Order: sequence, then structure tokens, then C-alpha cells
Amino acid sequence: MRNSVWLRTAALAAVPFLLQAQPKAAAFTVPRGLPPIFWPKDNPYSPAKAELGRLLYFEKRISADGVLSCASCHHPSKGFTDQSAVSTGVKGQKGGVSAPTVINRAYGMMQFWDGRAASLEAQAIGPMANPIEMGNTHPVVVETLRKIPGYRTRFKAVFGTDDFNLDHVAMAIATFERTVLSGNAPYDKYKLGNKAAMNASQIRGMDVFFNKAKCDQCHEGASFTLNAFHNLGIGQDKADPHPGRFAISRKAEDLGAFKTPTLREIEHTFPYMHDGSLKTLEAVVDFYDKGGIPNKNLDERIKKLNLTAQDKTDLVAFMKALNGTGWQQLTEPKEFPQ
Ligand code: HEC
Ligand code: HEC
Repeated sequence: MRNSVWLRTAALAAVPFLLQAQPKAAAFTVPRGLPPIFWPKDNPYSPAKAELGRLLYFEKRISADGVLSCASCHHPSKGFTDQSAVSTGVKGQKGGVSAPTVINRAYGMMQFWDGRAASLEAQAIGPMANPIEMGNTHPVVVETLRKIPGYRTRFKAVFGTDDFNLDHVAMAIATFERTVLSGNAPYDKYKLGNKAAMNASQIRGMDVFFNKAKCDQCHEGASFTLNAFHNLGIGQDKADPHPGRFAISRKAEDLGAFKTPTLREIEHTFPYMHDGSLKTLEAVVDFYDKGGIPNKNLDERIKKLNLTAQDKTDLVAFMKALNGTGWQQLTEPKEFPQ
């Protein structure tokens, strides 16, 4: 970083000017390598709203048994997942799919493996009333929170009313989720000009990723996903497979197609795939090398790759260069509103 002192001086000198020119800019800063967050017009960012969202995200009193919170299945210490093949909801019930990470979901327009929720606001209310997740009802969630004076004060401060409803709860949680980000990884630093940020194996793995294996046909962009749906054959060789995107679109070609996940923090979000069937990144690479699992809807981009042992090692090393920062400071609140 030869020019860093220079750049810093120049940046400092530019600050007063920028502040004058754009009085509303930079209320929230994203880690390096990520685009700005798109804050919905009807749910703009404020620090107080994100903090209320953080409290609700970790709030166990919104589940039927008072034991589960969003964090139970999307925990910060586990890369905002539960590191399990399938999640465990109220009364120990097992779900059918693996919990995806909340990290960088701000950049996804559709939520869930099959894309059935159109926004984070729409997504957030789902788990509370899902009988095998938090097992509650929406009226009870709102009633429970309204009985807690500490929450009334906070909702009043953020939304101007203590007569809040489920939409307000969803807006606060979604705002918090949009701050759960990962960027500034060795890969970002490398791209920004610090050639020492990645080691030789990671640099070779980057070449395998983009050129030899063309993983970026689907894992493209700052979050390494185009958020589109593809059939890799995962689970399609099992009895009664999950229909994937077909459940929503009802298009035959979407049978067994799932939303492409981000590869940011991928080292922390094992096991992999919608059914958690691949335990390690090595297993994922072997899976792609063999050309996926044959089935009538297999995506045409999934083909045998003929990777060497070195290619495979390097590809895994490259994926670990996507571990970054921006989410580690978002931890469980020490105290909750009473
Ligand atoms: C019992 C475990 C469990 C709990 C509790 C839970 N989730 Fe999830 N979450 C999941 C699973 C499993 C999925 C994937 C479901 C699917 O795609 O069909 C998911 C999906 C998501 C997604 C979509 C991610 C993506 O890549 O599309 C988001 C965002 C999310 N949950 C946030 C939350 C929030 C916010 C809460 C609390 C209100 C919550 N979850 C509570 C297990 C859970
Ligand atoms: C045709 C599009 C496509 C291509 C090409 C592709 N992927 Fe994927 N990737 C997906 C989809 C879709 C999933 C989820 C599939 C599922 O769960 O059924 C996925 C899942 C993954 C996962 C697991 C993510 C998680 O959170 O569970 C990893 C790791 C991964 N891909 C890495 C790669 C690598 C490395 C390559 C190149 C060798 C690659 N992908 C090529 C679409 C693609």
C-alpha cells in the first residue's frame, strides 16, 4: 500500500467538502468491497431502529416456548447459521432444510431457498408463526412485546407510536439484518491493489474459480451470488425430494432448483447445500468436479471439470479468502428491555 498515507491525507482534506456537497451521505458504512445497501423508501436506516432490530433478533420471548430466537438458528458465533444439516425448532422439531446465513442477505431480492419471500421484512415474520420453527402466532408476538414497557419506549422512539404492530417488528428486524455484512476479505484487499493479501494457493484458486471451473456463472458479484435458482441435483436422488423453486413458480424446469447461496464466510457456514448433505468445502469441490448429481433438470452449466488435486486444494483456499469482517461485532445484547 505505497500510497496509503497520501490517500488518507487526500481523503481527510476532502471530508468537509463532501459533507457540504452531500449532507445526507454515509449514514451507514459498508465494509470494503461491498456496494452500498439499498434501504427501502418505506423502511429507511436509523441506528436506533437497527438496535431495536438487534434486540428483537435475539429476543426469546417471541417464540412459543420462550427458548428460541432468530439467533438460535442464525447465530453470530456460527457465521449466522446453526451449522446443522437441518434446524431444530420448538419442542425439538426438525425442519426439512439447512438454515442459510443472514450475512449479506441485504443484497438478495428474494429470500429462502425457493425464493418465496420478496423482502427481508416479509421473511422476518415467517419463522415466528411457523409451527416447526418458533411456533407462535403473530397476535401473541405483538401482544407479548406490547406488555414490555421497555419495548414500548423503544418502538415509540423509532416509529413514533407505541401502538406498534407486526409490520413494525418486521421492519426493525430487517433493518438489523441489513447491517449483517461481510466484506473487506483478503480477496477484496487483493482486488483493491494489495497483492500480498492472498497467498499463492489462493491466487491460483481464484483463477480456477473464475476461469477453469467458471463458478462465477452463478456465484458472481460482490456477494458471490446472482441470487438465481439452479438445479445441481442435490437431494434429487433421494426419495421424495424437495421441489425447490418449482414450489413457487410451478415451472417444470424449476424442479430441484435452489437459490445460489453467497460464498462470503463460507468456511463458517457448513454443512453445505440446502439439505446440508456436503460436510466440507473439499466435498463440495469434489461434487462439482464430478459434474453434480445427474437428473433430468440438471443445469447445463454443471459439467465434469477434470480438476487436478492442486486445483482442488487451491479452490478451497480461495474460498477461505472470502472470510472478512463487518459481522463479528454484532453480538447478543447483554440486557433486554423489561
Ligand atoms: C428453528 C430454526 C429457525 C429459526 C428460529 C429462524 N430461522 Fe431463519 N431460517 C431457518 C431455515 C431452516 C431457513 C431456510 C428455510 C427455507 O428456505 O425454506 C431460514 C431462512 C431464513 C432467511 C433467508 C435466507 C436466505 O438466504 O434466503 C432469513 C433472512 C432468515 N431465515 C432470518 C430469520 C429471522 C429474522 C428469524 C427470527 C424472526 C429466523 N430466521 C428464525 C431456520 C430458522
Ligand atoms: C449453475 C450454477 C452454479 C455453478 C456453476 C456453481 N454453483 Fe455453487 N451453488 C449453486 C447453487 C444453486 C447452490 C445451492 C444448491 C442446493 O443447495 O441445492 C450452490 C452451492 C454452493 C456451495 C454451498 C453453499 C452453502 O451455503 O451451502 C458452495 C461452497 C459452492 N456452491 C461453491 C461453488 C464452486 C466452488 C463452484 C465452481 C466449481 C460452483 N459453486 C459453481 C449454483 C452454482
